[in-house]
This record gives sequence, structure tokens and C-alpha cells, in this order.
Amino acid sequence: MEEPKVPRHVAIIMDGNGRWAQRRNLTRAEGHRAGMAALRRVVEACDKLGIEVLTVYGFSTENWKRPRSEVTVLMDLLLEWIRKERDELIQRNIQVRVIGGPGRLPPRTRQELDELVSATSGNTGHVLCLALNYGGRRDITEAARRLGERVRRGAMDPADIDESAVAGELMTAGLPDPDLLIRPSGEMRVSNFLLWQMAYAELWFTPVLWPDFGAEQLEEAIRVYQSRDRRYGGLREEEP
Ligand code: IPE
Ligand code: IPE
Ligand code: MG
Repeated sequence: MEEPKVPRHVAIIMDGNGRWAQRRNLTRAEGHRAGMAALRRVVEACDKLGIEVLTVYGFSTENWKRPRSEVTVLMDLLLEWIRKERDELIQRNIQVRVIGGPGRLPPRTRQELDELVSATSGNTGHVLCLALNYGGRRDITEAARRLGERVRRGAMDPADIDESAVAGELMTAGLPDPDLLIRPSGEMRVSNFLLWQMAYAELWFTPVLWPDFGAEQLEEAIRVYQSRDRRYGGLREEEP
């Protein structure tokens, strides 16, 4: 029998840091810090499992609604994460990509993030795609605007706007669509994550909170994924 395939692209909504902290009488900041440790474990596990692309939702376009103090904590932790993980990401041959608008990120964070992306751009191992200040609707809206501009310049015919043209303008251009979307923390919604890209992703939800997430949960998600029958609107292979 053929070996069951691991998903090429796994996308994770890293949710539940606040509740994890609350249950332990810790501050939300400590919850986010524990979430950062979970990310480290999961990056390592993906590497071992041979997953080509891991996209993690770290900050949504809606997360700006949170109190300023929490936003500051998250941005500070992001900078800390970049500095701490940089060398290891380079050494592990991981290619870091960022999706999401650079607009509102603190300039220092943006600069170090850009540096991390360029320092790892020649790496040939798995892709770690960070969704920061990301919103699926914004992604699609900006793609539409760019296509509109091309049409206005006369560089494109509206009749040539097809699915691959749209996909090619999304922030994930060049990456395969996610095969598996994981959301911890018991919430069962997509919260404006990769809306276009997850058209045929398999969804897996777990009540485990993100700071408790690790290789074990990832492996469980993959086992479930491997038992799913992906038909893409067609019929099972053995059916006539
Ligand atoms: C996820 O944890 C981190 C971000 C959204 C940035 P939360 O902060 O959403 O944790 P809960 O949902 O309050 O538990
Ligand atoms: C989604 O989590 C965004 C990230 C994990 C970055 P939220 O906690 O912001 O989502 P909602 O508010 O529960 O939908
Ligand atoms: Mg949440």
C-alpha cells in the first residue's frame, strides 16, 4: 500500500494563549510567551515530518482592536522571537516568509522581520510563513485592486482575470494552498485567515490551547488528515 501522504502545507491559527494564562492565574503576556514556545516546538516537528510549508496566524487585522497594552506585548514578543530564533532558522535551512500588511507593525519590528526574510530567502528547506497583520479579506481586496490597476494601465484584459491570476496576486503567491487547517482552543471558526486559499483545506479543531500544543497534537491532526477522503467535488477514486 502507498504510504499515506503528509500534507504539503499546514496552516495553524495559534489561538488560546489568553485562556491558557487565565486558567493558571498568569498574565495574558505570559500566555503569549508560552505560545511562542509552542511555535518553536511545532516548527521543529514540521521539519521532522517533512511538511513543506507551515503558515501560522500570529496577528490578524482585527487584533488591533485589543487594548494597546496587549498589542504592545505581542509586538515586543514578536521582536524577541525574531532575535531568538534567527540563527537557528538560518541554520535549519528554513525559509521565512511574511504575509500581511507591513503598515502598522512597529518600524523596528518590520525592519528586523525584513532582515530575517532576506537572510533566509536563499534557504531551501521548509517554508515558515508568518501571518502578521493578516486578514483574508484584505488579501483578496488588495489582489483585486492590483488586478484593476493592471487593467487600467492596459497591461491586462479583464477577460484574463481567472483564478490563477487572482491567486498570483495574493500574499501567498507561489505557495501551495493549505491542505490542513488546524485551530486549537476549541473555537470553530476561521477568523479571517486564508479565506481564498483554504477553499479545499481539511479542517481540524482541538480543544487543546495553543501553549499546550506540540508534536503530539500535530501528529494527531495529520493522522486524521490522512484518513480524510479529499474529493474536491468529484467522486471517490474507486467509484465509477
Ligand atoms: C492567540 O491567543 C494570540 C493572538 C490572537 C494574537 P488569544 O490571545 O486570542 O487567546 P484567547 O483566545 O484569549 O484565549
Ligand atoms: C485569531 O484568533 C487570530 C490569531 C490567532 C492571530 P482570535 O482570538 O483573534 O480570533 P477570534 O476573535 O476568537 O475570532
Ligand atoms: Mg483568541
